[in-house]
Amino acid sequence: MVKFLLLALAFGLAHAHAEIEGKWVTTAIAADNADIIEEGQPLRLYVRELACTEACNRLKFTFYTKVNGQCTKTKVIANRQADDQYRARFEGDNIIVPVYVTPEIIIFVVQNVNRTGRKTNLIYVLGKGQSLTSVQYEKLEEFAKVQNIPRKNIQDILATDICPK
Ligand SMILES: *[C@@H]1O[C@H](CO)[C@@H](O)[C@H](O)[C@H]1NC(C)=O
Repeated sequence: MVKFLLLALAFGLAHAHAEIEGKWVTTAIAADNADIIEEGQPLRLYVRELACTEACNRLKFTFYTKVNGQCTKTKVIANRQADDQYRARFEGDNIIVPVYVTPEIIIFVVQNVNRTGRKTNLIYVLGKGQSLTSVQYEKLEEFAKVQNIPRKNIQDILATDICPK
């Protein structure tokens, strides 16, 4: 919880779930196991849309993954487990926490446990197609550090998003 408060302080306070639904694209991803978000890897998600059903007890993610240069559209439904925590199956098990939501930026912290039990902590930054400002990027670096993710493991995703809109 302390970690999320730090993020809120870093980016400015935001209302969770305020404007989560709509069209989004992945701006940046960071992970402590960097291999999992490299180009061509399955957790490098090119998000397109978030949609709520049942008062956001279910959150549908629509995204592309790119393997061997080929974009594959996927939809995954995450189910709310607790106030601000969702769970979804994709490349193993995922606990998903929206930690920052504004009309322009959403940040999720995700813990993925793959099918052989390997744990990875990830940060997904979604936006409306703009790159992060240098100030936002610095804040992301600070937040990644709190999550034990080195700055070199932050990937610019917009630059490699060649999948259909
Ligand atoms: C889980 O991650 C480990 C370490 O990268 C990898 O060797 C293993 O193949 C992965 N398992 C699956 C099912 O993806």
